Amino acid sequence: MVSTATRIGDFQFDNCLMNAAGVFCMTREELAQVESSAAGSFVTKTATLEARAGNPEPRYVNTDLGSINSMGLPNKGLDYYLDYVIEEQNRIGSKPHVLSLVGMSPDETHTILKKVQASDYQGLVELNLSCPNVPGKPQIAYDFETTDTILKEVFSYYTKPLGIKLPPYFDIVHFDQAAAIFNKYPLVFVNCVNSIGNGLVIEDETVVIKPKNGFGGLGGDYIKPTALANVHAFYKRLNPSIQIIGTGGVKTGRDAFEHILCGACMVQLGTVLQKEGTEAFDRITKELQAIMAEKGYETLDDFRGKLHYID
Ligand code: SIN
Repeated sequence: MVSTATRIGDFQFDNCLMNAAGVFCMTREELAQVESSAAGSFVTKTATLEARAGNPEPRYVNTDLGSINSMGLPNKGLDYYLDYVIEEQNRIGSKPHVLSLVGMSPDETHTILKKVQASDYQGLVELNLSCPNVPGKPQIAYDFETTDTILKEVFSYYTKPLGIKLPPYFDIVHFDQAAAIFNKYPLVFVNCVNSIGNGLVIEDETVVIKPKNGFGGLGGDYIKPTALANVHAFYKRLNPSIQIIGTGGVKTGRDAFEHILCGACMVQLGTVLQKEGTEAFDRITKELQAIMAEKGYETLDDFRGKLHYID
């Protein structure tokens, strides 16, 4: 019997697949759709303190190899998502969930996290340190000093289970430096990776999205090798208590298998979910189960992190 069940910290999930923040998670209706699918959990759209309209449209376009977006953190504001995850937490039979959030400034991030700390919510929180799409705001986790300061301040008051969503890194030294910072804190997980920021897709002679003159985050096939590298690099460097969520380029069971082989304990779907809808969870789960059965693996732990190298 093959199981794709998994855990993050103290939370058990019947399936290792879930949505990535940004896809199928803006409204309660979308979140409920993920909840009632084969997904093991959902994560909310990244919440800011107040609701945001985000960037002008067109701001998301699918391409043959994936997607480009510059959404600009449109969301319904913290209270909308916090109320919903608390409601869900109290519903019998509900799955454990992830609340994604970030402030528009470090101060706002602390205000938000203090609100969550004081609330009844006991579930996982994902602090998004990697949105590439808000004009004038850098991707926080590319600035190691700021990241270290934010985490130090956060863990001076925040005692609930917290993880961070990371941008892709591209340099071995950066993996080392980032991991050294993350290992100082009681993080429950890191999520590798957000979109590859500031790509450019052109049709004929024109960019395909409006914000930032067409610059936007890439998802889908473009990013799988980078996502796998980040999952594995952090799997090898982080304290075993910090688990890895793998995100990027997953559209088949084989892709999910590779993320887990690189060390992911949970795998998120972004572009494929946007393109295919929540049926993708059932299809990819079945494909993953078939690969596991063929290889004689019964649980994710049988192969998680066990990537082979060439001697
Ligand atoms: C966005 O809202 O711009 C996408 C979310 C993200 O990249 O964190």
